[in-house]
Amino acid sequence: MSLRFTDKVAIVTGAGRGIGKAIARRLASEGAKVVICDIDKESAEKTAEEIRKEFATEALALFVDVADENSVNAMVGEVIKAFGKIDILVNNAGITRDDLLLRMSVEDWDKVISVNLKSVFLCTKAVARHMVRQRFGRIVNISSVIGLRGNVGQTNYGASKAGIIGFTKSAARELAGRNITVNAVAPGYISTEMTEKLPNELKEQMLRQVPLGRPGQPEDVAGVVAFLCSDDASYITGEIIRVDGGMAM
Ligand SMILES: NC(=O)c1ccc[n+]([C@@H]2O[C@H](COP(=O)([O-])OP(=O)(O)OC[C@H]3O[C@@H](n4cnc5c(N)ncnc54)[C@H](O)[C@@H]3O)[C@@H](O)[C@H]2O)c1
Repeated sequence: MSLRFTDKVAIVTGAGRGIGKAIARRLASEGAKVVICDIDKESAEKTAEEIRKEFATEALALFVDVADENSVNAMVGEVIKAFGKIDILVNNAGITRDDLLLRMSVEDWDKVISVNLKSVFLCTKAVARHMVRQRFGRIVNISSVIGLRGNVGQTNYGASKAGIIGFTKSAARELAGRNITVNAVAPGYISTEMTEKLPNELKEQMLRQVPLGRPGQPEDVAGVVAFLCSDDASYITGEIIRVDGGMAM
């Protein structure tokens, strides 16, 4: 495989495991220097070590709480200190706190909106400052098919993921003049720890809605993110690509 990201510096949030880890591995496999940042520092360290062993590139593990402005700014400062620039940002960190609307607590609403949506604003703002100066940047936000079509028990999650789509389009318009693209990927049912914890009945029900008949793998999402970060996608901005086996068409 050709190395599409040689000399590029990429930050992936929530990259200690799951989809974020697959994205970091994919970018590293194609030559990017990757920053694995996660609120779980231990898993970030483990992933970075794995990448350093497996691929001929640099991988830096950093703690970040993406919902906290000071933490995000400190993380971005560390990256600039280590690598001098940032070319790619993948806003991947996300959580669920599911409950029916009438039972949902204000805490669970606020938490999901902060970790999934406010985070995208904080990280993009902190990184875009540097991208604007270098007149190059690739930003990819991880939304969800739930942001497109909704789901019972996920009003907070659905609102956060739909919010990401609105943010993506506005940021794409604002930053286009500086050669910075901003796109989003909307995964469907992907096999990770986030979906592993769901009851079997719900998993089977979700699977029945997938025309391709299988859950997606984190690598299915990583390939599309890598495409959006590559030169092949340099004329794509403000786009939302579903990676869902046809689930939400
Ligand atoms: N798995 C799916 O089916 C699916 C579908 C659609 C969208 N998504 C989205 O993809 C992204 C990744 O999902 P996943 O399935 O890999 O989840 P996951 O739970 O396996 O991994 C999420 C990672 O984010 C980290 N994280 C959580 N809160 C954080 C915070 N405040 N600051 C920094 N890091 C934090 C976690 O420690 C973890 O390493 C999420 O945004 C999720 O909403 C997942």
